[in-house]
Amino acid sequence: MVQAKTWILTKHFDGFPKDSDFQLKTEELPAPKDGEVLLEAVFLSVDPYMRPFSRFRMKEGDVMIGSQVAKVVESNNPAFPVGSHVLGRCGWRSHTVCDGKDLIPIMADWPKDVSMSLALGGIGMPGQTALYGIEEVLGLQEGETLLVNSAAGAVGSIVGQIAKIKGCKVVGSAGSDAKVAFLKELGFDEAFNYKTVGSLEEALRKASPDGYDCFFENVGGPFSSVAIQQMKNFGRIAVCGAISTYNDATPQTGPYPHLTMIVKQLKMEGFMQSRWEHKNPETLKRLMGWLKEGKLQCREHITRGFEQMPAAFMGILRGENVGKAVVAV
Ligand SMILES: NC(=O)c1ccc[n+]([C@@H]2O[C@H](COP(=O)([O-])OP(=O)(O)OC[C@H]3O[C@@H](n4cnc5c(N)ncnc54)[C@H](OP(=O)(O)O)[C@@H]3O)[C@@H](O)[C@H]2O)c1
Repeated sequence: MVQAKTWILTKHFDGFPKDSDFQLKTEELPAPKDGEVLLEAVFLSVDPYMRPFSRFRMKEGDVMIGSQVAKVVESNNPAFPVGSHVLGRCGWRSHTVCDGKDLIPIMADWPKDVSMSLALGGIGMPGQTALYGIEEVLGLQEGETLLVNSAAGAVGSIVGQIAKIKGCKVVGSAGSDAKVAFLKELGFDEAFNYKTVGSLEEALRKASPDGYDCFFENVGGPFSSVAIQQMKNFGRIAVCGAISTYNDATPQTGPYPHLTMIVKQLKMEGFMQSRWEHKNPETLKRLMGWLKEGKLQCREHITRGFEQMPAAFMGILRGENVGKAVVAV
């Protein structure tokens, strides 16, 4: 018998999540039946989407949602041999028994010198999000200027680097001077700390006096209202996230962008990376190729210990992470 540790959502979040919204529980798992496997979590992802999705994908008492890289420790399913690694949407669980239907084997030729934790980050969902936002939504072209906010995070840091690979000018904003220094290291042309610039409008204008062709939006709220005013005519906006609104108890209101969108003839499109799931294998190969060529850096913010899952999750909502936030068991 294996004892699995799980993190339960005891109470729906009201405003910023609290320790008391989570409970660590132990459950005894049955032995895997025919066709089933027993998984042991190695790396677990904490992501901003867990905050809004908890409201419409979970009920109180459920195990927290989330993806993990896990090792197959027992197997009655030939597709997943013992010792192999998989990506699974198992939630915040240390051990899982499942039939393998929703498991994705980690790339067979995953290089030995690359941590498998990156399958949750730059060579995983956030990397895919960055690439699909740039290619499928924005259609970013060489020579264009792109703005990305939350730029030192899991998605934003990859967005900026892909835009540089494509020969663009990249402007990024982030919430600390250390993050700004990291963006410069990654090759961003301009970067600023949105918390300390006196005027966001001036900072955006100074970074690109001619305005922006493309805006990869991760934050929403007042940042968005100011940035939209700085778009060039026919500018494109990919709405990937709105993290500044996720903990709001009351929805934020205006200013409304309609007149600016009409006059500048802007295009704004929201997207979920899952729309292009069929492209994932090819996309992961491209991202891994850039990593191996030294064109892509995948910085991680690792927290150690399954017990730290809530702290790591709340940490991203406080901006504690540089790069992808991951929990190593
Ligand atoms: N559409 C999709 O398919 C998809 C997929 C993945 C992610 N996303 C979205 O993409 C965005 C970035 O996700 P990620 O995984 O890369 O997260 P992340 O950027 O690694 O981590 C979150 C960051 O957001 C910033 N932040 C936190 N609270 C904030 C607030 N109140 N106002 C402004 N910034 C705040 C912090 O950076 P600073 O210190 O810079 O403020 C924090 O480090 C999120 O909005 C997420 O929901 C969407």
